[in-house]
Amino acid sequence: MTRVFVPRDSAAIALGADRIAAELTQRLPDIEIVRNGSRGLFWLEPLLEIETPDGRIAYGPVSLNDLDSLIQAGFLNGGDHPLRQGDIEQHAYWRDQNRLTFARAGITDPVSLDDYLAHDGYRGLRNALAMTPEGIVKQVTDSGLRGRGGAAFPTGIKWNTVLNAEGEQKYIVCNADEGDSGTFSDRMVMEDDPFLLIEGMTIAGLAVGATQGYIYLRAEYPHAHAALNEAIAKAYQAGYLGDNIQNSGHRFDLEVRLGAYAYICGEETSLLESLEGKRGLVRYKPPLPAIVGLFGKPTVVNNVISLASVPIILDKGGDYYRDFGMGRSRGTMPLQLAGNIKYPGLFETAFGMTLRDILYKYGGGTATGRPIRAVQVGGPLGSYIPESQFDTPLDYEAFAQLSAVVGHGGIVVHDDTVNMADMARYAMEFCVEESCGKCTPCRIGSVRGVEVIDRIINNQERAKNIELLKDLCDTMLAGSLCAMGGMTPYPVLSALKHFAEDFGIEPSAANSN
Ligand SMILES: Cc1cc2nc3c(=O)[nH]c(=O)nc-3n(C[C@H](O)[C@H](O)[C@H](O)COP(=O)(O)O)c2cc1C
Ligand code: SF4
Repeated sequence: MTRVFVPRDSAAIALGADRIAAELTQRLPDIEIVRNGSRGLFWLEPLLEIETPDGRIAYGPVSLNDLDSLIQAGFLNGGDHPLRQGDIEQHAYWRDQNRLTFARAGITDPVSLDDYLAHDGYRGLRNALAMTPEGIVKQVTDSGLRGRGGAAFPTGIKWNTVLNAEGEQKYIVCNADEGDSGTFSDRMVMEDDPFLLIEGMTIAGLAVGATQGYIYLRAEYPHAHAALNEAIAKAYQAGYLGDNIQNSGHRFDLEVRLGAYAYICGEETSLLESLEGKRGLVRYKPPLPAIVGLFGKPTVVNNVISLASVPIILDKGGDYYRDFGMGRSRGTMPLQLAGNIKYPGLFETAFGMTLRDILYKYGGGTATGRPIRAVQVGGPLGSYIPESQFDTPLDYEAFAQLSAVVGHGGIVVHDDTVNMADMARYAMEFCVEESCGKCTPCRIGSVRGVEVIDRIINNQERAKNIELLKDLCDTMLAGSLCAMGGMTPYPVLSALKHFAEDFGIEPSAANSN
């Protein structure tokens, strides 16, 4: 029976993959359809792959209208067709990646535990079960892994704090609220390789002595929700979750909880409030969640990608992971190319690649064919980066020197038709919408920010209002309780600094004091 892979990732579903799978089942009853994950080459989705004696042959982007001609061309035997992509692993966009975290995505059936095990799954947990908690934490520390949710805090140090914290009950909380603009790597892990996250969280539990885990999942991710629940049920059945994991005597339970449709609920303390059933208000720090976290207990809060990076570290060792990357940015980062870009998708690479390579060599420039004018890296609170800085390597410290962030690795591209004063206004407006309201610089400052930018755009006392905007940004930067208000000035000030002409002023006026 010929196996045909039709992705079940929501990017492929949005482009018609479910309808194609249904039609193929009806028209070709003798084939076996495998609903794999996405390989992340979105412009080729739905990307069908046929298992042939010469390996998997890909066709994409396939629409329902293409099925007749594909069948006529003998696609089940790898026949020639304008949509034939051949062995997709030879495509530069795939071949040049360092797929550590996304090693299985697009290849396996995401909810098949057998497939997971056949593709090196649960090797990290097997090693971890033979180690002491300190030994596991050491591997993670040695790997140099830093949190992929945004703040880039060293994961090993966080785990060590929870390991050493006093508490009868400890928790592992996975931050799967993924609210940043242009980001989808968390969603892809959960839809395309959910056992990986389950394994990473189980290892985290062993490392710090936590017996209960929660995945706080963005409520707008129904496909991830379904895939996680199916995988969790299978992990319980097979003894990979529950009170005696693989007969080790260790317990770890795991549940998915849906988020509250609020960007601020991705901030870790607000997330914990929401998980406790309360309104998502940011908590004061200290105490850190590692000491006083969920229900007042020591808690690891980690992003999906941070936790999904752990199994390979425990499988191959911290040094193996550390060998990728540069400086203090170790391992790989799954970049997400979005916005006005010719080849959007997921590109996992070792730290160190330049933005220019990502944007042009792999991203292919803009979809409109016009020059790239600005990219926003790291979500709605990230700085706008102009063309003159595209040779910056992907590295936390190099980005910090530009007053920019790598964040969660989302890259949103704009061509030369963008108006950067409008984008600055949008950043303030976003903060008005999403502020939790607890502190004044953010709650009131963002409203005043929209007003002052409107006055600048409308040329009302422009010079005076530019100074006022800078002053306001200073107050928000220094006086906000969390990074929502504290980083909203990043996109605003970077737009002003690099694109002063869009505000109707000379660059020297934007960059004074
Ligand atoms: C406004 C705001 C929104 C955030 N949203 C997310 C999010 O959606 N996902 C995430 O992992 N981290 C998010 N963070 C970062 C978390 O507060 C926290 O740093 C992260 O979950 C820690 O995990 P990590 O160390 O693995 O990155 C957000 C932070 C802020 C200030
Ligand atoms: S900065 Fe904004 S989101 Fe953060 S605590 Fe203050 S009001 Fe809430």
